[in-house]
Parts: sequence; structure tokens; C-alpha cells
Amino acid sequence: MLKSTVPGVHRERRQRLSDSAPDACFIFFGAKEVVRSNSTHYPFRQDSDFLYLTGFDEPEAILVLVGGKSHLFVQERDESREIWDGERYGLDRARVVFGVDETHAVHEFYSCLDTLLTDATSVRTTLGWDADRDRSLLKALHGASRFRGKGRFGHLPVHSPLPELSELRSVKDEVELGLIRKACKATVKAHSDVLRKVRSGMTEFDAFIEFQYSLLRHGCGELGYGPIFASGFNATTLHYTRNNELLKEGDLFLIDAAGEVEGYTADLTQTFPVSRQFQPAQSRVYEQVLGVNREITAMIKPGVSYRELHSKSVELLTESLLSLGVLEGDPKELVLTGAYRKYYPHGVGHYLGLDVHDAGIYHERGRDFLLKPGMVLTNEPGLYFREPGPYFGIGIRIEDDILVTGMGSEVLTAGLPRTVAEIENVRSGGVWS
Ligand code: GLY
Ligand code: MN
Ligand code: MN
Repeated sequence: MLKSTVPGVHRERRQRLSDSAPDACFIFFGAKEVVRSNSTHYPFRQDSDFLYLTGFDEPEAILVLVGGKSHLFVQERDESREIWDGERYGLDRARVVFGVDETHAVHEFYSCLDTLLTDATSVRTTLGWDADRDRSLLKALHGASRFRGKGRFGHLPVHSPLPELSELRSVKDEVELGLIRKACKATVKAHSDVLRKVRSGMTEFDAFIEFQYSLLRHGCGELGYGPIFASGFNATTLHYTRNNELLKEGDLFLIDAAGEVEGYTADLTQTFPVSRQFQPAQSRVYEQVLGVNREITAMIKPGVSYRELHSKSVELLTESLLSLGVLEGDPKELVLTGAYRKYYPHGVGHYLGLDVHDAGIYHERGRDFLLKPGMVLTNEPGLYFREPGPYFGIGIRIEDDILVTGMGSEVLTAGLPRTVAEIENVRSGGVWS
């Protein structure tokens, strides 16, 4: 069981979702095990929506919310399977531990569906991830519509539950914030350990091993996303994942990696020199990116939109490119023509939580959603130079995780050396507490 599973909290989340469409039948499928190669599986990761609504972390489960009740379909106890795969909750324990109204064996799902849908006027479920499952479900829903006859509500429209669920998931409750804080704290420790220990002659992979070891020691057993340990020119590839090159004096090292605690991840990037000091061109770019990171952090508060944050980052980084001598011309014109995109090709951030790019709505029919207290988002400006010139091969991103509070914001990833002087001090053996 996940340590933070508190049935009351999950029950309240389910209730809030059901209240958004009281006559609907919500159906959520948990994740399946995925084959890696003959007889072996990838590590199991529960579906994020499913985890949010149940806390249940076994494969092959299904949640149905209908008529004010919650039904959890789970694998039955099976001694012969449990010898191989570990203990299962089974129906009786799952009902008590996860606080649902009823549990059923998962193989009975399709035969229960007609009855569950008796009074529902619509179905809310997510299609499109698994074609076989979609086919089975749509066939069963067609059967259920026939079973319900030709009355006004005989035919069941299917809608996505994601608009309501995304809005719920984007504002974190106290249990979620506790887990995100833990993930951020362990991640900051791991980045700071790597910052102290990395030396030229090591490989990107050696640094990754140090990072993982530190994460584990600080109570974080999982990574929240594919880690990026990118030295030199590799840092200009946004999703570089080979992580196997030799670290060389004079290069920068961009590390975008973070730990996950009970499904909740941090998302942190630091960039520092493999040598003790930045080279002049590197520190010029670094100071610009850090300045933008700080200005964006200062803007984050309730009522601001993501679009405003991103637009500001574009404006500021365009000014940076002008002051670095990379672009020439009128700043407004350069923003309009998108001249910055070659050097800043991504957004300034995203919501963060169960998914690194978390559920949450940014805009709807041209209307921006505004930040609210309890939302968590990243702030990650960067500049990347892939073409010959004075900054060739430099890739710098500085990423923090920010909680929107009632008054403004809190940097959840605070505590790392971030200025050029602070980083050079630590790289030279100086103490950082
Ligand atoms: N680590 C992925 C991202 O920063 O969005
Ligand atoms: Mn990010
Ligand atoms: Mn990141």
C-alpha cells in the first residue's frame, strides 16, 4: 500500500468528480503490466488518474462511479499467482483499505456493466489509449443501450472525464503537496550531491548513478521521468537521453532529473561547468537565463495566466539574445517574428504533480485559465546554441518547481546554489549548507 493512502482523501476526490456530473457513470481503467521482453515486465506504474481517485496501485483494476457509489474491480486473491508476483489485496481488504462502497472481481466487469448503467444518462471514460480495450468497452456499451431499451435515455453518449478531472487535479490538496514537497527535497539534495562530486573524466552515466544513489538515500526510490544528463553540445538537444559521454574540462553539464514519491514527481534542471569555473561566454548566457528564471518566479501568483508567464519569458529572452549580440533589431519585431525560437524552442513551464507534464487546463475557447492557490508549475527558461558562433554548443536551462500560494508563490526546489559565484564556489570545494 502507498504510505499516503488515506481513504477519506480519495473518497472526497471521487465525490467531487461525481458531483460534476451526478447522472453520469464514470469508468476509469488502471494501468496494465507491460511486457519488456520474454517473461519480463517494465516496472509497474499505476495510471495517474486512477491513482488520484483510488490510491490503489495494483495492475488490471477498474473504478466505476455511478449513482453516488464507488465500485472497485480488482484481481482476486490467487495463491498460485501470488507466489510469483506478490500479495494482492483481494476484494475484502481492498474495500476496507481503499474506502470504496463495493469491490468486485475484475473479470466480472463486463457482466456487471448493464446493471451499473441502469440509471446513468451518460458515460464518462477516456478512450484512445488502448484500441482493444476501447473495442470491448464500446461493444459492451452498445449492448447496454439495447438492454436499456428505446427510451429517451436508452442510448448512452460517451464523454471524456478529463475536463473536470484535470481541473480537480490541477489544484493540489495537502496530501499531494506533502508528497511533492518530499520529492522536491530529495531531488534538491541529489542535485546538490552531484554538483559537489562531478569531475572531468567521469561520464554522464557516472553522474546519473551518483544522482540515483543520493535520491535513494533521501527516501526517493523512483525517477519521475526519463533523466537528462547532457554535457557539452548534448545539452542543446532538449530530450537528450543517451547519458553516456565523457565529461570534459571546459564543457557545461545540464542535468534535468528528479525523483518521484508515491506517484508525485519533482522536475528540476541545473546547469554547471565541468571545470571549477564557467568560461566567460558560458557565464554571460547563464546570468541571462538566471535573470529570466527569477523574474518569472516573481510574477507567479493567483490570477496570473500561463500565457502571461510564457510571453514575459519570450520578451526577456529576446532582450537577452540582443544583449548577447546574437540577435539584432527591434525587440517587439523580433518577438513577433519568432526570431528567439531557434534559441528558446520550448515553453516556460507546465503544471506538475502525478505526471511531470501534469493534468490541468491552460485555456479554453480562447480564454486563459488563471493560476489559483494550490497549483504547482515549473519555471524553466533556457537558451540553446546549435549553430557556429561565439556561444556554439552552449545549452543552459534553469528549472524550479513553484507552488502558487494565497499571496504569491513558494519555490519548492529552493536551496541549490544558483548564481555563478555560488556554483563556482561549490565546484571549487566550498561549503554549501
Ligand atoms: N523534464 C521535462 C521537462 O522539463 O519538461
Ligand atoms: Mn519541466
Ligand atoms: Mn525538467
